[in-house]
Amino acid sequence: MPMSRVSLLLIPAALLSACGAPQSVLEPSGPQASIIADLGWFVMWLGIGVAVVVGALVLIAALKERGTLAEHAPYDQGGGKLWILIGGFAAPAIVLGIVFVMTLDTLDRFPLGAADADGPRIHVTGHQWWWHATYEGGDGQGFSTANEIHIPVGRTVDITLTSADVIHSFWVPKLAGKADLIPGHVNRIRLRADEPGTYRGECAEYCGVQHAHMAFHVVAQPVDEYEAWVASQREEAAVTGDLAARGRELFRTHACSLCHAIRGVSPGGGVAPDLTHLASREWLAAGTLRNTRANLAAWVVDAPSIKPGTQMPEMKVFSGEELQALLAFLEGLE
Ligand code: CUA
Repeated sequence: MPMSRVSLLLIPAALLSACGAPQSVLEPSGPQASIIADLGWFVMWLGIGVAVVVGALVLIAALKERGTLAEHAPYDQGGGKLWILIGGFAAPAIVLGIVFVMTLDTLDRFPLGAADADGPRIHVTGHQWWWHATYEGGDGQGFSTANEIHIPVGRTVDITLTSADVIHSFWVPKLAGKADLIPGHVNRIRLRADEPGTYRGECAEYCGVQHAHMAFHVVAQPVDEYEAWVASQREEAAVTGDLAARGRELFRTHACSLCHAIRGVSPGGGVAPDLTHLASREWLAAGTLRNTRANLAAWVVDAPSIKPGTQMPEMKVFSGEELQALLAFLEGLE
């Protein structure tokens, strides 16, 4: 009885928390997530049914035998064994059998045909603790970005996945199930968003102290908007004004350029996010901070205090005026 009561209380809570959430398995926005959500709802209602039946039986037994527990008959008398066979073996076997068949049917509905031939080819590499996304350009016009993956709405997109260090897991609950990123191995996940929107994703495999701060966003855009985004990402970094130009020199002559690539400015070391179009991204530090001037300044100066364990070192070497120049440069990278 207490169990079924608790489960019943949790249902409205789960439903309420799903409303308008950017990362809810209960609100699918793509065919794969819908298939998984169907199974989830089925198993949940089945579980509620079992909880109600068990709760009712416990209640009936308690009322029927009220005050007589001391002289209750042994379990193997008066049909007790039959109840054990039915309730302890037959009923669970039937319920779990139904779930098994439904799960096989769900697996059978994957994958969703082939990826669109004219869709983007995207490679994602997991790092502690950020996501490196590379868009392959058939015409040699590929580019890299980090923690924000754009896809065209209504197109089936294959994303290949691997890891630079430990095992991570790529999970965008509103679009698809999980797929692991494994060092030395290439996995694949197929995404399709039916509606435009920004879908939050999260690393779903424990990968070290900042595992919880290894988020990303999938931005699904109408095809023309998506193509405009690709065109802008292909461009080299823009630098306008004297302050930004001074910031660019500071970036080049300090440790920043050893790790971070900025096309047209620095090749980087391939171990940190490509910043060519940093200002076009909504978030910093893998979904940890909104991309605002204050957060960017805090991140540049003392990243480890925000995300302990990050490979980004503290950079307390800049004077106030130098920091303003560097920020002007970074904020101009649209
Ligand atoms: Cu990467 Cu958890």
